[in-house]
Amino acid sequence: MRQILVTNALPYANGPIHMGHLLGYIQADIWVRAMRAMGHDVTYVCADDAHGTAIMLRAEANGISPEQQIANVQQEHIRDFDGFGVHFDHYDSTHSDTNRARASEIYVKNRDAGNIAVRPVTQLFDPEKGMFLSDRFIKGTCPKCKAEDQYGDSCEVCGTTYNATELINPKSTLSGATPVEKSSDHYFFKLPNFGEYLQKWTRDEGRLPVSIANKLDEWFENGLNDWDISRDAPYFGFEIPDAPNKYFYVWVDAPIGYMSSFENYVKTKRPDLNFDDYWKKDSDKEVYHFIGKDIVYFHALFWPAMLDGAGYRTPTGLFVNGFLTVNGQKMSKSRGTFIKAETYLQHLNPEYLRYYFASKLSDKVEDSDLNLDDFVQKVNSDLVGKVVNIASRCAKFINTKFDNKLSASCAEPELVQSFIAAGDSIAKAYEEREFSAAIREIMALADRANQYIDEKKPWALAKIEGEEQQVHDVCSVGINLFRQLAIYLAPVLPTLAEQVQAFLQLDTFDFASRETILIGHEIALFQPLMQRVDPKAVAAMVDASKDSLAAPAEAPKAEKKKEKAKEKKAEPKVGEAEIITIDDFVKIDLRVAEVLEAATVEGSDKLLQLTLNVGEAEPRNVFSGIREFYQPEDLKGKLVVMVANLAPRKMRFGISNGMVLAAGNGDGVWVISPESGAKAGDKVS
Ligand code: MSP
Ligand code: ZN
Repeated sequence: MRQILVTNALPYANGPIHMGHLLGYIQADIWVRAMRAMGHDVTYVCADDAHGTAIMLRAEANGISPEQQIANVQQEHIRDFDGFGVHFDHYDSTHSDTNRARASEIYVKNRDAGNIAVRPVTQLFDPEKGMFLSDRFIKGTCPKCKAEDQYGDSCEVCGTTYNATELINPKSTLSGATPVEKSSDHYFFKLPNFGEYLQKWTRDEGRLPVSIANKLDEWFENGLNDWDISRDAPYFGFEIPDAPNKYFYVWVDAPIGYMSSFENYVKTKRPDLNFDDYWKKDSDKEVYHFIGKDIVYFHALFWPAMLDGAGYRTPTGLFVNGFLTVNGQKMSKSRGTFIKAETYLQHLNPEYLRYYFASKLSDKVEDSDLNLDDFVQKVNSDLVGKVVNIASRCAKFINTKFDNKLSASCAEPELVQSFIAAGDSIAKAYEEREFSAAIREIMALADRANQYIDEKKPWALAKIEGEEQQVHDVCSVGINLFRQLAIYLAPVLPTLAEQVQAFLQLDTFDFASRETILIGHEIALFQPLMQRVDPKAVAAMVDASKDSLAAPAEAPKAEKKKEKAKEKKAEPKVGEAEIITIDDFVKIDLRVAEVLEAATVEGSDKLLQLTLNVGEAEPRNVFSGIREFYQPEDLKGKLVVMVANLAPRKMRFGISNGMVLAAGNGDGVWVISPESGAKAGDKVS
């Protein structure tokens, strides 16, 4: 028996749980349940990540204290996880006394070991708000291309990265005030002290997915930097020991929340467990963190370094999930695909989603898509059409004709044995987090069970006199096969499994229990187990998602400001533009181009990447800021007009080689397209 501590990433206490979050939480919960079913001792904890500027500002916008804000959100998070059957042994908050003590201790140990440095940092400061501004709270004009309304770290238009202090006419997005430069002491964690250690650590067997370890090598090659771990007051967090008015940056005490959540669990509910047994340097227990791919940097570098620097063990492994898209795209409030856990639960059975995610997940760091049509189709055909169907076809005969008792012998021992034997590779797939492979195997078994029943046709036999024994035998085999499937699916579908366990009147449903065939066993009355997914309910959920987040009360201040800023920014009116001559105009080489490919750009919600045929040997690559108004598929195959002799521009995402023309006003943007007859490469004048 292995003793394992499992954690999920701690969700921020400033917003609701949504479908994207759930991918990682459901993945971890399935793994925990599967490992327990195999007989391992697993402890599963999580907590809300309660600190930081975003949460402080969110509380302010809601007119409540940060403590009230995080208490409210924690209630909602617990409710949502519970609704999806994500069953933590303990759910805590990083804003706890235990976490404060643990964070201070880890810091002090690192400080005493020489891993902390202090030096002044000059930053932009909002004189109205009285606080330092991170890049995200500063906007201004790009120093390079002069595009307005750009964030403090990089320009979305030309891709240049810069320091916030270089922005032209910078403004605080919090107050609108012009920020001033101000210096203050910052505390740094000396990550380079751990360079060699981490390079080896990340390559340890099983520590990280290989694709991630490869990515980390790039970071090692570029060299590690000191990590700024302090924030000046006002900040919602823990004050740093011996450093008045300096607070731990949220990412310092967040992962320490894994430890303190476990610590509080042990203290309050499990006196038989011991904190040090799990966290001391040479612990024989296993610790795994399930995290999304966006937070690998924190977990694979800072976290093990901090732990090692303080004399603690490091995680046995990081399990990293990719990102979730809905209907092939980033979740979007306007399309109604930003679906909150709460909204889902008002319309659909959570086990549908658990099954759908399981059917997609593997141990690879790949993005997954929740395609809502495919979701309906897969759940209905697999779970309702295949699995549940087996029970409903067999149970009624056992209930009505045979006094609820299964046959006194097994008519198909080989068939049932083959189902039992398949459990070994299914268990292995679960253990290796190859859930999609496990589901494929289980569904292949379900097909075989249905095939068997189709061949034997108990409903036809039941009409023939003298065939009672056959009916009894066939249905008893069917119920036995169904039980195997339900055990295999139990980590994914805990509620269904509970119902089946009650229906079959079984004491246990763990993996090993499958090995005894049910003979002469009495079952309960069959109750319908799972309804088909109603596509109307899915549509209603999408509709409700359109409303749920558009509510103005929910919009954080920064968002509102952004919208206001948009309203103000106006194009010159007709007739106001500078007069040019025909000589100026003919300098512009306008061409008809055919859109060969159109794709979204990871990391930008403004840009589409277009591959254009302009009648040249090679297609052109162009980034166009029309993402908010066009789906890639709307543009594919379309003829557009482009400026073909624009100097290539290097952007963060690649080189843009031209520009596509579009009409625009405050309401939208419309790409200019020639009438049919025009061909790629035609001159436009
Ligand atoms: N608070 C940090 C984690 C601290 S862990 C010490 C955080 N919180 S989060 O609320 O933004 O995200 C929680 C988890 O959900 C993370 O693992 C994150 O990667 C994951 N996801 C958030 N959006 C997601 C998708 N769209 N798809 C898949 N996972 C996503 O990060
Ligand atoms: Zn720019």
